[in-house]
Order: sequence, then C-alpha cells, then structure tokens
Amino acid sequence: MNSGNEIGFRQLFDRDTWTYTYMLFDPETLEGVIIDPVKEKFERDLQLLEELGIELKYVMDTHVHADHVTAAGLFREMTGAKTSVGEPSGVPCADLLLQDGDELEIGQHRIQAISTPGHTDACTTFKINGMLFTGDTLFIRGCGRTDFQQGDPKQLFESISQKLYCFPDETRVFPGHDYQGRSSSTIGEEKRFNPRIHSEQTQEEFVRIMNSLNLKRPAKIDEAVPANLSCGMSPAMGHGTEENFSMVDLHRILGMLKPEERVVDVRTPGEYAMAHVPKSLNVPMGGEQEFIEELRNYDKVYLYCHSGRRAQTVYTILSRQGLDNLVCICSSGMADWIASGFPVNRGEAGF
Ligand SMILES: [Fe+2]
Repeated sequence: MNSGNEIGFRQLFDRDTWTYTYMLFDPETLEGVIIDPVKEKFERDLQLLEELGIELKYVMDTHVHADHVTAAGLFREMTGAKTSVGEPSGVPCADLLLQDGDELEIGQHRIQAISTPGHTDACTTFKINGMLFTGDTLFIRGCGRTDFQQGDPKQLFESISQKLYCFPDETRVFPGHDYQGRSSSTIGEEKRFNPRIHSEQTQEEFVRIMNSLNLKRPAKIDEAVPANLSCGMSPAMGHGTEENFSMVDLHRILGMLKPEERVVDVRTPGEYAMAHVPKSLNVPMGGEQEFIEELRNYDKVYLYCHSGRRAQTVYTILSRQGLDNLVCICSSGMADWIASGFPVNRGEAGF
C-alpha cells in the first residue's frame, strides 16, 4: 500500500468542543484529506491548507456529530473537495457514502474505511499507514456514548473488540475527542488500560457500564445534527456561482483573447515549465498575493490547474479579496487540454 514516502500529518484541536481535526497529505503530490473539521475553525484550517500547499481531495466525517457542526460543506465549496460520511447516515448532501472496506487514495497512500457502528449507526474508523482515526468509537481510555443517535452498546462492543482490537498492538489510535489533553494512544495500550473496554471485558459488563453513565444531553445537539445532515450548510448557502467553463471552452476563445483578458495557470513552476496553455501566466497556488494587483486590472482572468481543484481554491482566495473578474475552470484542467491534443508551450516564460 504505502510505497515509500511518509504521510504528512497534522492534529488540530477545538477547545470549545474538545474535538480533534486531522489533516493527512502525501508530501510529494500534496493531495490531502481533512477528518472531522469544525465549522468554527474553518478559517484556521483553510489557512493551514493554503500554507502547506495541500490540494484537498476529501473531507471525511467519522460520523454525524452531535456536539459540533462540520465544516465539510464549506471546504467543498471553497476547494472542490468531495465530502464523505458513513453510508448508514444517508446524509443526502454527501458526495460519498462510505461502506466497510471502501478505500480512498491520496497520492501514494490509501485510506480504508472501517464501519464501526455503536456510538451512531454510521460511525466509521479510517485506517492509514498504521494509524486509526477512530472518531467517537474508541477514545483514549474511553469510548463514545451510546444513548442517542441510534447508539447501541452491544454494537459498540463488537466494533471495538472484533474490529479495532484485531489490529497489531503498536497501531496508533487518534480519537475524535479527548477531554484530558491526551493526543494519541495505541491499540495495545487501550486493550490493557481502557477501563470500559479492555481485552478481558465482557459484553454484558460493557453494556451495563454504558447504560449507567447518565450523561447530560450535548448542548448543541438540536442545532448540530440537522446542520450536519446538510454537510454543515444552511439551506440558504448554495454552491459557488462560477461559470461552468471548461478547457475546451478556453481553447475555443484563446485565439480571440483580448489584451485585457488573461489566462492564469495556478500549478507549480515545475508543472508549468513542462507544458502550459500558450499565453498563460504562472501564478502558483499559495503565491497569488504577489500578483493580486496585476490580476485585479484585467477584465477577465481564466484560472486553470491540472484537474480543477487548485483553480477552485485560488478562485475562492481571490474572490474573498474582492476580485470579481475571475472565471474558474474548476472541473477540468491541463490533463484534459493535453488529452485533447491542444497546443502547449514549454519552459518558464509563458508567452
Ligand atoms: Fe459523536
């Protein structure tokens, strides 16, 4: 599976809801995912993605949260990433409803979805390179509650003991929350020290513990669950309004381009040098601030990248800074241009 390069990893924390958010990315291709982003922390996480140059492919929620609203819909709108959540949730706005065993790729790495119901019926653990992102299924020395949202302590016992505890002891565990400042654990540690569900625990005793917790209802549940069923977006918040402009459309108008119009390639200088659209200017994603005043002066700026995702990100960044002259080529890119046999220029200066 993992053919060589280490995976990039960041653990982020929301102290209002004690939630961990994770970013994982392939350091070579810079394709990445974000797991369980919190809506209130959207700007922080988007900035980190931009700083690291990560091209977000997927936003993955481990389940339909009751304690916070997901930023999944915002990330989809801003970056073109696909949103995913476990299949039993039936979340209508999700791009992918993951089933047990489904795999998603980021660069050379694969993320495996493991269905681990019990806290909710759609809880999913993500496995990548000896790391488990357990959401609210397994916590450090604890586990998620089972008293609402289709919670079922018997199911949770099965998920943890039959699915998670089968991984090698050294497998690392990254939970969805921790309330005592701990950041990670291992399967071996939890099998030995988890007071609710250690390796000797019986299902009967576990069910008894879970049914006698008497926890308070989560403060945000009435707001969070309905919002999360629509990917964290209120019905009034639609998707972007950019035109559905393709590389074929760009090819059609390229010969008629006026001096006040500009084609902009937002890929890296290396990618640009290999092959780019004739007359295009290279403004690598992450370096757009240098060019912002120049770009503001054009009547129209056509943005493209390899596949459309980076173009969408740059479109969003520049739009937020007041540029209203942008046309995003968000669903195709240089790969389609080359496949269509359209002419290319090579080298650093793109004129
Ligand atoms: Fe939860």
